[in-house]
Amino acid sequence: MKDIVQVVLIFSLTSVVMPGLQVRKSNQTKAMMRESCFLSDYSLKAKCVQIHQNLRCKGGFNDQWINGIKYEITHLTVTEWPGECFNVGHLHLHFPELRSLEIVNCTLLRTFKGYFRSDSKIEKITMHGLSSLWEIPPETVNHMVNLREMDLRSNMLRHMKAQLLIGSPVLERVRLSGNKWDCSDGGLDWLAMEEPNGTTKSRITDYYDLVCYQKLYRGKPLHKVMDIIKTMRETCPDPCTCIMTHVVSDPRGAIIPLITVDCSDKQLTAAPASLPPSVTTLRLEGNKIDTIRSIVQNSHYKRLADLYLDNNSIAAVKELEGSEWFSTFRVLSLRGNYLKQIPVYAFDKAFQANNNIMHVFLGQNPWRCDCHFIPRFQGLLLKYKRVIRDLTDIRCSKSSDKKTSLVQISTMPLGNVCSNETELAISPINIVNIVLFALIMFILGKFLYDWRNFKNTGKLPWLSSVLP
Ligand SMILES: *[C@@H]1O[C@H](CO)[C@@H](O)[C@H](O)[C@H]1NC(C)=O
Ligand SMILES: *[C@@H]1O[C@H](CO)[C@@H](O)[C@H](O)[C@H]1NC(C)=O
Ligand SMILES: *[C@@H]1O[C@H](CO)[C@@H](O)[C@H](O)[C@H]1NC(C)=O
Ligand SMILES: *[C@@H]1O[C@H](CO)[C@@H](O)[C@H](O)[C@H]1NC(C)=O
Ligand SMILES: *[C@@H]1O[C@H](CO)[C@@H](O)[C@H](O)[C@H]1NC(C)=O
Repeated sequence: MKDIVQVVLIFSLTSVVMPGLQVRKSNQTKAMMRESCFLSDYSLKAKCVQIHQNLRCKGGFNDQWINGIKYEITHLTVTEWPGECFNVGHLHLHFPELRSLEIVNCTLLRTFKGYFRSDSKIEKITMHGLSSLWEIPPETVNHMVNLREMDLRSNMLRHMKAQLLIGSPVLERVRLSGNKWDCSDGGLDWLAMEEPNGTTKSRITDYYDLVCYQKLYRGKPLHKVMDIIKTMRETCPDPCTCIMTHVVSDPRGAIIPLITVDCSDKQLTAAPASLPPSVTTLRLEGNKIDTIRSIVQNSHYKRLADLYLDNNSIAAVKELEGSEWFSTFRVLSLRGNYLKQIPVYAFDKAFQANNNIMHVFLGQNPWRCDCHFIPRFQGLLLKYKRVIRDLTDIRCSKSSDKKTSLVQISTMPLGNVCSNETELAISPINIVNIVLFALIMFILGKFLYDWRNFKNTGKLPWLSSVLP
């Protein structure tokens, strides 16, 4: 006892001498309170008013109200609770006859401690203006058997678990508008997958008024986003995963999701036969696909903008030639396949016509380096070097020829693949053509000359006259 008095004395002395300590002390107390979370934490500044069976407490509870059990109170309103934590477990001990609880305008309140027990008689819970409250843990309320109504409008709620709304067997009405719902996939997806008249959804009386607030879906009606998520889940091809990467509105206000389908590393031998509507990106990396025919000819792929086919077994892309998709796509990646050559003219034509084209990747393929293909291919690479993004990886296949083996094609001297004569403007085949043309002209001329000569003089050409 003596020791304690001494400590208190010293403490009050130091407080006077070093006012800084006071600050630390109050911070410590605050931290302690946050951890302890008692209803008595703020009894000093609290103001409570009782009118009949209603009790209204502002800024905490007076000692008077949390000493003993107050059977007479059936309606309790808590406003401006000064802490981050509110202990609903203890509330039941002091007010066992509560029928209605309101927690209003508590801007600091973040968490609840404890839970309402199953013998709680509370029928209605109202929470408004809790501007720090992101989520109500389902455990807080899901033991309650008399709860009929929850009015949770105008808080900062972002997430909600299904259990919050299925605990009480008599729960009829839940109001949730005016919150900051995070509709991204994985948060409220249980709501998305529920039937149109599923029990949980039907309890939310203002379901069609809810608005998504976070990130991607900001400002979009929640029920529409949930419908989109549901459609996407149901149409996502097995064994792929589908995620919504963007949401845009069309001029009529309809929501258009932009979806990425990820089928990479799934041992697929063919692309999925169908895709969710409005897929923009399809990832098929690391599979065993050997043809792109099924992709460019499938009407589901018409709106596909970005196609990643890295590390597959594609040896030819002739099917791209003339396909509609090829003149509208945005990204095409064919890295790490077995391509030896491509139809250069068709690529050139399609790239020129394509207004969306952004990136093309062709690296890590065993390109055939000969004089027939390389000059045209190099021309294409240089012409579209802004689009073809991995020029340094586009190299000749490995071979014993040092001049070409693994040499970067876009910067390779053509002399490496074409012998010196062919570097001239006139290639051998053209020289042959010219010679043949000259011969034909000569023979034709000679024939005309001989014919005129024969008509005028009746003399046979020398050749005819010596032949028997
Ligand atoms: C006490 O808390 C306030 C705000 O809560 C902070 O600004 C201050 O730095 C804290 N003081 C100490 C000594 O921790
Ligand atoms: C809560 O705050 C709003 C506005 O700040 C006010 O209109 C309302 O009366 C307050 N409610 C309670 C119960 O204090
Ligand atoms: C949903 O409700 C409608 C009528 O509102 C009813 O026709 C339909 O069968 C219900 N569906 C399910 C799955 O309960
Ligand atoms: C393709 O395979 C290579 C080598 O195995 C690897 O480094 C690369 O990350 C793979 N690319 C993709 C997109 O999976
Ligand atoms: C080909 O031309 C290069 C210079 O352009 C020359 O160094 C080389 O000797 C020539 N090779 C032949 C076989 O003529």
